[in-house]
Amino acid sequence: MRSGARGARLRIAGALVAAGVSAAAAQAQEAAPSGLGRPPTAAELGDRIVGPDGADLPEGSGNAAEGAMVFARRGCPTCHGPTGDEGPSIALVGGDVTTRTNYWPIRHWPFAPSIWDYIRRVMPYDRPGILTDDEAYAVTAYLLYRNDIISEEDVMDAQTLPQVRMPRRGDYVMPGTWTPETRRGFRIESGR
Ligand code: HEC
Repeated sequence: MRSGARGARLRIAGALVAAGVSAAAAQAQEAAPSGLGRPPTAAELGDRIVGPDGADLPEGSGNAAEGAMVFARRGCPTCHGPTGDEGPSIALVGGDVTTRTNYWPIRHWPFAPSIWDYIRRVMPYDRPGILTDDEAYAVTAYLLYRNDIISEEDVMDAQTLPQVRMPRRGDYVMPGTWTPETRRGFRIESGR
């Protein structure tokens, strides 16, 4: 009798464990790979990130003349000056890489799509994300034109922007393909 009762209890326990496991399995499908939290929703992720090759650039377009208007309308002069190089914030036209300013003027950036990506997601600094895709293309065209990188008539869109050859592109070296065997380019000294 006693062993029978124990067997029944074990079977119930087993069923509960099985139910728990399948519930956990169902949950695991929704959980993040790390097992912590859950994957963010598309809304939580916010805007997509466009990489240096511009492969994820969206539809839309703009040129320098339109960009000059976007620049004024969207309040960029408040921080960057009426034409982008008067400040009080960092100059968007010209400029050199110096240890004093400690930033890379956009004409030193190696890839033009990164300028679009940065502006679209980060600027204006006090209201990031308000620019439409068209406005981001136009204001990028404006800044590229002001930096003598494209001509005034050039239209920037998902096809043309990745083709813009940035003047300092040759100063950058692409890292090789990473594998787990890849050695670091530096050695970490063991601290004292
Ligand atoms: C409230 C002030 C403010 C406004 C308005 C603003 N910016 Fe900026 N911008 C900044 C600051 C500050 C930085 C530097 C941010 C950093 O390094 O973290 C910056 C950086 C940038 C850069 C990167 C420059 C580089 O060489 O690294 C670009 C491009 C830029 N802004 C474009 C714009 C455009 C286009 C607008 C209007 C749509 C705009 N900004 C509006 C403050 C502002």
